Amino acid sequence: MNNTTINNLPILFFDTHKFEKEYYAKISKNLIFFDFRLNEDTVNGIPESQIICCFVNDHLNKAVLTVLKRKKVELICLRCAGFNQVDLKAAKELGIHITRVPEYSPYAVAEHAVGLLLNLVRKIHKAYLRVHEFNFSLDGLVGFDIHGKTIGVIGTGKIGQKFIHIMKGFGAKILAVDPFPNADLINNKVCEYTDLETLLKNSDIISLHAPLTPQTHHVLDAKAFEKIKPTAILINTSRGGLIDTKALIDALKKQTIAGAGLDVYEEEEHYFFQDLSTQVISDDNLARLVSFPNVIITSHQGFLTKEALENIANVTMNNMENYQLNRPLQNKLEPT
Ligand code: NAI
Repeated sequence: MNNTTINNLPILFFDTHKFEKEYYAKISKNLIFFDFRLNEDTVNGIPESQIICCFVNDHLNKAVLTVLKRKKVELICLRCAGFNQVDLKAAKELGIHITRVPEYSPYAVAEHAVGLLLNLVRKIHKAYLRVHEFNFSLDGLVGFDIHGKTIGVIGTGKIGQKFIHIMKGFGAKILAVDPFPNADLINNKVCEYTDLETLLKNSDIISLHAPLTPQTHHVLDAKAFEKIKPTAILINTSRGGLIDTKALIDALKKQTIAGAGLDVYEEEEHYFFQDLSTQVISDDNLARLVSFPNVIITSHQGFLTKEALENIANVTMNNMENYQLNRPLQNKLEPT
């Protein structure tokens, strides 16, 4: 894609990060990258453009979309899978097209979930720090075999399926919950679909791979945590809002859960993707979670592989080109 301006208007990228710019710059020169997020505070100051590119924390509500319309925006390419940050109905009414990248590397996220899991189960995060100080003691580092354990997977879409297949390689039994069970997983006897209560009560490891919807919001609340085994490990690479953070903290404090590996957090938009190492964190829940020895937090980096970044950039830039050449848009979002 060589033509980077449309009707002499630049293509604007918001909430951009060092880790991703090179993948777009490789495809097209002279794109305008803004580090700030697009929201009601920032939208008025941006230049006019027909095509813009947004990320997970750009707030595309009706007010922002209305200003974007005034600024001639016709296409918003989301360079992410999630779209809960967009008012799709308002976009449709305003005649603004929205596209996303629904699948860029399910392996990236599934493998990150496995990484968090292995770290927790084998206490590698603690061992790393010890050895760094030449402390070669093994006391307190006893883990458990994943082989033979029961793993509960909530959401068996693209990422959930990859996670399940990896876990089958470990020799684990898989229980799954999904309103739309996957026929291949059933026919090949890869996992057993069940109800949420059975999954929570019987799983040694629980991994979340469902989207954030009104139905999945706080799917793990205080009542759900009461059902989980005290020896269980929880992994969340999906969306922070699936877990009631206070309920998780309570369970960790009461030791009714053995650990949590979190790549997402309910209030992450205020913290993740930024270096806040010289600041005081005012979010007591986040600070408390970070303080647990049996909690590992990564800042939404499940997608962060070379392969995934390349795919995201290619799909996003292709759609911009499709729009310029009047070709159909791929992965266009419509209100439900
Ligand atoms: P997908 O759409 O392929 O699969 C989601 C599955 O969840 C579907 O099978 C759906 O039927 C199921 N589901 C919906 N409601 C459910 C419920 N109430 N209970 C159980 N299952 C339910 O999505 P994909 O690609 O597998 O992604 C899953 C999630 O992973 C995304 O929604 C996103 O939140 C998260 N994600 C995280 C990333 C990261 O970097 N940590 C990157 C990409 C996605």
